[in-house]
Amino acid sequence: MSRAVAVQALDAAADASAGELAASLSLPLLAPGEPVPTGLLAVLQVGSGGLALQPAGPRASGPVCVDFSAPALRHRRRGGQNELLGRALGVGKRPAMRVLDATAGLARDAAVLADLGCEVLLAEREPLVAALLAAGLEQGALADDAWVRGLVARLQLHRGDARSLPPAALAELDAIYLDPMFPERRKSAAVRKEMALLQQLLEGDAAADAGEGLLDWALASPVARVVVKRPLRAPFLGGREPSHSLRGKAVRFDVHVLRSLTP
Ligand SMILES: C[S@@+](CC[C@H](N)C(=O)[O-])C[C@H]1O[C@@H](n2cnc3c(N)ncnc32)[C@H](O)[C@@H]1O
Repeated sequence: MSRAVAVQALDAAADASAGELAASLSLPLLAPGEPVPTGLLAVLQVGSGGLALQPAGPRASGPVCVDFSAPALRHRRRGGQNELLGRALGVGKRPAMRVLDATAGLARDAAVLADLGCEVLLAEREPLVAALLAAGLEQGALADDAWVRGLVARLQLHRGDARSLPPAALAELDAIYLDPMFPERRKSAAVRKEMALLQQLLEGDAAADAGEGLLDWALASPVARVVVKRPLRAPFLGGREPSHSLRGKAVRFDVHVLRSLTP
C-alpha cells in the first residue's frame, strides 16, 4: 500500500520525527508545506498532536486518526452494536476478560471492548495503521481525561501479524476477535469514510487474505471463544459454521464457542 502515501511534518518542530517515520515505514518524505504531488492517495501528517492520515485530492475528506478522546468514541460506549459485541465475546462471564483483537485496524471495536472492561491485545500487521495506533495510544496515555487514560491502559499493541504472537501470549487469552476487511456497507458516514480509506490502502492485502486463514489459526488457538464480525447477509467466513450468531441492524457477530468461559 505504501506506494500511494507520503509522510509530511505539519511544522518544523515535527520535521525530525517525520523523517524517522518515513524511513521506518519506507515512505517518501515531503518537506513541511510542500504541495502534495498528484497521484498520492494520502499524506501521513506528523504534528504535535500525533499522527493523522489525510486523504489527498480535490474532494478529499478530513483526516483519519486514532483518537481515544474523540466524542464519537465516548458516545459509542454502550448499547446497540457495542453491547452485542460484548455479549458475543462473553464479557461479564469472567472478570477482566483478555481478548486478542487480531484485526485491530483503527481500534474502534477494541476501544469498545476496553470500555467494557476487557484487557485487549491489538494486533495490526499493516505498518502504517500500526503507526497510527501507536500514536493514538501514546496521546491517549497523556490525556487529561482519566477515562481516556484508563481505557488506553487496557490496550496493548502488537505490531505485526496476529499469527506471529508467541504461544505464551496466546495462553493468557480468553477470546479472539476478528473483523477482516469486507466490501463496505456500513451505514454511518464517519465509519464509511475511515473504512473506505483503509480499504483503498489495504486493497492488495485484503484480496490476498480475506481472513479465512486467520480464522483457522484462531480456531486452533487455546481460547474459549472466537468471534467474527460480518456484514448481516455475508456468508460465514471461510464457510466455517459458528456455534451461534448475534444479529444487529447492520452487522452480525458469528460466535465460535470452543470451551466454557466460566471457571
Ligand atoms: C476492517 S479493519 C478492522 C477494523 C477494526 N475492527 C476497527 O474497529 O477499527 C481490518 C484490519 O485488520 C488488519 N489485519 C488483517 N489481517 C491481519 C492479521 N493477520 N494480523 C494483524 N492484522 C491484520 C488489516 O491490516 C486492517 O487494518
